[in-house]
Amino acid sequence: MEKTRILGISGSTRDQGNTTFLVQMALDACKAKGAEVELIELAHKELLYCDYCNACTEKHNYTCPKDDDVAEILLAMKAADGIVVGSPTYFASVSGKLKTLFDRTLPLRRDGFRLSKKAGGAIAVGGSRNGGQENVIRDIHNWMLVHEMIVVSDQKTAHFGGIAVARNPGDAAKDEIGIATTENLGLQVLEVASRLRSRT
Ligand SMILES: Cc1cc2nc3c(=O)[nH]c(=O)nc-3n(C[C@H](O)[C@H](O)[C@H](O)COP(=O)(O)O)c2cc1C
Repeated sequence: MEKTRILGISGSTRDQGNTTFLVQMALDACKAKGAEVELIELAHKELLYCDYCNACTEKHNYTCPKDDDVAEILLAMKAADGIVVGSPTYFASVSGKLKTLFDRTLPLRRDGFRLSKKAGGAIAVGGSRNGGQENVIRDIHNWMLVHEMIVVSDQKTAHFGGIAVARNPGDAAKDEIGIATTENLGLQVLEVASRLRSRT
């Protein structure tokens, strides 16, 4: 039987930051349970803004004419059974780069809701203890809901997803609660994604 595929997207703008560390932790937990995992770091990707040119309609086979790295990310999203999205907290919201990716996923929605019924979970990290991480989680959940995804929380530590307090690269590795909620989030995405797959 094919393995359940979990895609992790790190919305951090810096290489090897806390967000990437945490998304990798979630993927490692899934891999240990037998999942096939893939990590995409937006820090290494070029993303242009959606400027509402409206080219991504049926007439153009729901493709975007922009020449950047978004097409490959959309392919990875379509191939995944579950998606874990992580973001640093920037002024109590997701990073601008992650929001740019969210906007560029419009063709997937227009093309018959290609992310529908995939499991999705969110991870947020901020430098302050009450720095707006829950708003970041809500931003990510809202994107998932608009795509008809099945939003899940973390298992056992059950709140809203993976939430960590970390400022400088390496800090997230010292946040035990952040790591526990992140791993449990990965496991919940995997379990729900596997159950949804077995029904289709
Ligand atoms: C532009 C900017 C805005 C930030 N805003 C917040 C914030 O509102 N709340 C917070 O807790 N941390 C804030 N931070 C700190 C980052 O969320 C924190 O350093 C995080 O660990 C960065 O993740 P990364 O290591 O993946 O880049 C901000 C950082 C930057 C660069």
